[in-house]
Amino acid sequence: MSFICKKCNRSFKRNCDLKKHLKRKVPCDTDLSNIGKIIDQKIEEKMINYRKEFEELMYQKMEELKKFISPQINNNYEIEDIDEEDETIDSQFTFIEVCAGGGGLSSGFIKAGFKPLLLNDMVQSCCDTLEKNHPNTNIICDSLLNLDLTEYKHKVDVLMGGVPCQSFSHAGSRKGLEDERGDLILKFKNLIDIVEPKIFLIENVAGLKSHNKGKTFKRVIENLSSCGKYDIKYDILNSVDYNVPQKRKRMIIIGVLKSLKKEYQWPKKCEKQLVLRDVLLDVPDSEGSQYSETKKKVLDLVPQGGCWVDLPEDIQKEYMGKSYFSGGGKRGIARRLSMDEPSLTIMCTPQQKQTERCHPTETRPFTIRESARIQTFPDDYIFCGSVSQQYKQIGNAVPVEFARHIALSVKNILENNE
Ligand SMILES: C[S@@+](CC[C@H](N)C(=O)[O-])C[C@H]1O[C@@H](n2cnc3c(N)ncnc32)[C@H](O)[C@@H]1O
Repeated sequence: MSFICKKCNRSFKRNCDLKKHLKRKVPCDTDLSNIGKIIDQKIEEKMINYRKEFEELMYQKMEELKKFISPQINNNYEIEDIDEEDETIDSQFTFIEVCAGGGGLSSGFIKAGFKPLLLNDMVQSCCDTLEKNHPNTNIICDSLLNLDLTEYKHKVDVLMGGVPCQSFSHAGSRKGLEDERGDLILKFKNLIDIVEPKIFLIENVAGLKSHNKGKTFKRVIENLSSCGKYDIKYDILNSVDYNVPQKRKRMIIIGVLKSLKKEYQWPKKCEKQLVLRDVLLDVPDSEGSQYSETKKKVLDLVPQGGCWVDLPEDIQKEYMGKSYFSGGGKRGIARRLSMDEPSLTIMCTPQQKQTERCHPTETRPFTIRESARIQTFPDDYIFCGSVSQQYKQIGNAVPVEFARHIALSVKNILENNE
């Protein structure tokens, strides 16, 4: 008696031999091409597993390497950002920033290879943040009105300032230059005259352009141009065009020393726009403010990307109060952001009724680390002060990635001038 395999017709004397044959890793088949396919499939499965293991190992090694190398180069330098074309770690182009806040603009410049000579702000918690993240830099905690920069004459590549914008902001009082803070931009001009940097840069809110029917801006530009030594360009740029998952428009004014004979080119927009899903999925835990129970109940009813218009009418009226009858857009009220869109501009206080930015999938404001991610600060950037001071530093900042793109465009002029 023999035992025959039904698949390949092989005969066996003993049943146990047939059973062994049937348990083979590569099963038998009469059709050779089928056997080939089965073998290919098995190999592919193995390869997928090996590839996964290999990628995991690579990722772990990269993380280890990053932790090891990062502190030696620069607190904020991230390995994945190394790009031979535009990142030069040892470039010694220098800058001074006044009104530096929590350091968004300066971090972008440092990432692009610039060296800070002096950072200034008049608020202690901002200076603590700057000191923590840039321990070897000269930090001066004082009003820019008291700064003496004479020792830096002709020794600085870029002098820049995020001079206060509240007085021009659409969200602020719009008193313009009559407001004491408004005139700090004009004071900045004195520093340009003293230092005579190769390039100066001012960042401000987009509303500066239209304030007082454009008269304020005209006065600022006339003042900056008065010494006749700089070619001045200005534009309103949107951070969302520069690898930042946030719509945030800022007025950027750049002056280039005429004697350099260089024309400044604005940074090129990136092809792809990031959305919240790109930055919100693996954020480290951190502190953050919460909504009141009443507010939470209302916002629970709003879908992703929605706002007050998505609420039942009776709740709309109750929540909006007088604003309900005043008409107009106001889509910022009871606003929940969407994972599939960039964030709206991150503000200094996370809970403002007119400019709500509720987390897309949970009913709460963004935490400190989430807000920092949206402003493209690295996760290891430390913010000092109370939670509300930290929110303020983040909300006031120029997004780091946006600043890095500007820094690279500035570097273009300096490099070609060496
Ligand atoms: C818009 S924020 C600057 C943000 C900064 N560019 C960044 O990217 O993080 C303006 C800063 O100016 C500071 N400030 C206001 N008046 C000042 C003054 N007279 N002297 C120095 N700093 C001042 C504020 O404390 C605030 O941090």
